[in-house]
Amino acid sequence: MKLLKLAVLLFFMAVFILPLAFNDPVKSQTISATDVGSTPDVSGPPPPTGPTEAPVGFDNQTNGLVNQPEFNRAQGVFEDVEVIANGLGPVYNAQSCRECHQNPVTGAISQITELRAGHLDSAGNFVSATVTLQDEQGNPVIVANRSLINDRAICPNAQFPNSQAQERIPESGEPIRTFRTSLNTLGDGFVEAILDTTLVNIRNSQPAGMQGQVIVVPVAENPGATRVGRFGWKNQVPSLLTFSGDAYLNEMGITNRLFPAEITTLCDTVADPEDTKNDIDGFAEFMRATKAPSRNGLLANTANAQAGSVLFGQIGCAICHVTTIVTAPVGTVINGGTFTVPAALGNKVIHPFGDFLLHDVGTGDGILQNGPPETRNKMRTVPLWGVRTRDRLMHDGESLTFTQAILRHQGEAIAVTNAFIGLTDAQKGQLITFLKSL
Ligand code: HEC
Ligand code: HEC
Repeated sequence: MKLLKLAVLLFFMAVFILPLAFNDPVKSQTISATDVGSTPDVSGPPPPTGPTEAPVGFDNQTNGLVNQPEFNRAQGVFEDVEVIANGLGPVYNAQSCRECHQNPVTGAISQITELRAGHLDSAGNFVSATVTLQDEQGNPVIVANRSLINDRAICPNAQFPNSQAQERIPESGEPIRTFRTSLNTLGDGFVEAILDTTLVNIRNSQPAGMQGQVIVVPVAENPGATRVGRFGWKNQVPSLLTFSGDAYLNEMGITNRLFPAEITTLCDTVADPEDTKNDIDGFAEFMRATKAPSRNGLLANTANAQAGSVLFGQIGCAICHVTTIVTAPVGTVINGGTFTVPAALGNKVIHPFGDFLLHDVGTGDGILQNGPPETRNKMRTVPLWGVRTRDRLMHDGESLTFTQAILRHQGEAIAVTNAFIGLTDAQKGQLITFLKSL
């Protein structure tokens, strides 16, 4: 069995890593990334000889970035429930990060969806939704240029009985509408530690017509700095600290040092920034310290799952759902110079079953976030690690079986989808068994 695993690993390394190593990233891209080749002096212990497997498990244990008591503390910050006195709202989606990231453990995924909307102007440009709220005197309060429509609000309440901060889609207008499911954050410290050039190389290794799009997006912790986006359904975010600040504001309404301005000040009683204890650092530390999702070892070892794994490579699923990626060398400076890849996260082998690139597989939701206009109908290849903990699939949660999710892949994936359709029933079963083991 060990030998077989080794053979499978070597096979994937040969297929995915070696071509990347020999690709010249400069020849077909113009990305000026900040964390490329910036390997500073690493004084102290000699560098490890080769990459090692990243720790995995749904077990609430640290990946080694911090010790277990510190991990538990940071997890507690991620689990904190916020109330109006802490700055919750005025518009928000939930009271705690955990509310939307907790299946089967804190930091993972959930069934929660969010609403986004917008429209095209006369020139065909995407414009985020405008919603109208109402103050205590009945005056309209306009919230514009934001595709997220928050599902909850702190007023009307006892202090502001006539105010209306509840957002909703206007009766006419904003015809581009979508639901977005939550995403897993377990193992995201390893994803953050992937070099920009590695993502560009994956793109360059993909066949014509299936090449993912790399986008470069702002690093909030270093204003003016940018990096290849890798988080969110649109790759709209490059770092876990940026996501933490963004989510604290947009999901919970808590202003913080990275995102200090409220979406609306209607019914707001707490001075900004509301995150006086810098909880955003705790969120980022917690997510960076989580282990990657583990596989179902029993199922993964069955002959069916192993045959399914081979088919997954053969028919082309793994072109986008990339099986193996190695993180940056320990000591690489990333996130616009603000974070140095530590030993726990650097030089690690991960199996995300995703390329962290944007593709048009015919499911695009029409919403533009941080990317150029052509990304409006592209989505990030969602990593399939941990997909067995997810019952509503694809960005909108509208696909309820693996087969439905696969058949929805059109556009760049059409040849692969046709290859799936061409499998025998037994082979299709093997492929689905493999997915259930992830
Ligand atoms: C109301 C539900 C909700 C809450 C509360 C919430 N999230 Fe999320 N989270 C989501 C959804 C939905 C997405 C996908 C967003 C998108 O790209 O459209 C997401 C995505 C993420 C991602 C990207 C993961 C990846 O691998 O791409 C991170 C990181 C994250 N959230 C962190 C946080 C943190 C930290 C908090 C607390 C401050 C938080 N979230 C609160 C729903 C939520
Ligand atoms: C051209 C790139 C590409 C190829 C090829 C591809 N996928 Fe995907 N896959 C995506 C993208 C992009 C998404 C997200 C689409 C969305 O949410 O709208 C996705 C989503 C999925 C999901 C949903 C996961 C979740 O958590 O919601 C599954 C399952 C999946 N793919 C399996 C497969 C399988 C099996 C194959 C091969 C038959 C395959 N994919 C081929 C790009 C690809």
